Amino acid sequence: MRLDRFLANLPHCNRQEARQLLASGRVQVDGQTQRDGLSEVSQFSRVQLDDELLQAGKAARYLMLHKPVGVVSATEHPEHRTVLDLLDEPDKHQLHLAGRLDLNTSGLLLLTNDGQWSRRATAPTGQQPKVYLVHTQDEIDPACVEVFARGLYFQYENLTTRPAILELLAPRHARLTLFEGRYHQVKRMFGHFQNKVIGLHRVSMGTIQLDERLCPGQYRELSALEIASF
Ligand code: URA
Repeated sequence: MRLDRFLANLPHCNRQEARQLLASGRVQVDGQTQRDGLSEVSQFSRVQLDDELLQAGKAARYLMLHKPVGVVSATEHPEHRTVLDLLDEPDKHQLHLAGRLDLNTSGLLLLTNDGQWSRRATAPTGQQPKVYLVHTQDEIDPACVEVFARGLYFQYENLTTRPAILELLAPRHARLTLFEGRYHQVKRMFGHFQNKVIGLHRVSMGTIQLDERLCPGQYRELSALEIASF
């Protein structure tokens, strides 16, 4: 929300008074004097008027989890363990997933209580690379490299996938870099070549790499640098 609107919503403060408070330098956001009424304040911002605390600001939380196979990317599920079951955190139900992985996919999963951040991290055409290691049932047709680089037509969504980078590591093993996140995208891309994905592991999203020290099921807080990368 805009800071001028935040102030004007306070009891006993109208829009003109809000402007005056800002102009007189009496409003602080996250410890800094803020005079620009158009600047944004969120639920995580600490807002003060002189020495009076108007909003304490909720603690923003950002976690990376090494998702194991067999755990659902959801916060609730009638049958399977969910990724939230793996967290030993207070108020973990306030967290949501920034992107999902299939039940039988492992690797990097991000969780946060910051909706704006997760929208940036998961925008389907956000152009942030997502890197996967793929194992396939059959040998990978080298033609995949060029076809994936050109883009594949997905009839259901009526779109052509963005150019993707496929690096062959072994006859049935590859690294695939996508610049978007469509439903079951990796499996559908290999499915186009009648090749089944039998192992899928996400190693990075944007510049955030899955921490190699995390065993499947373990998690850690993101660093300030990792948070700022989205
Ligand atoms: N593509 C898939 O097919 N599955 C995932 O879990 C992620 C990307």
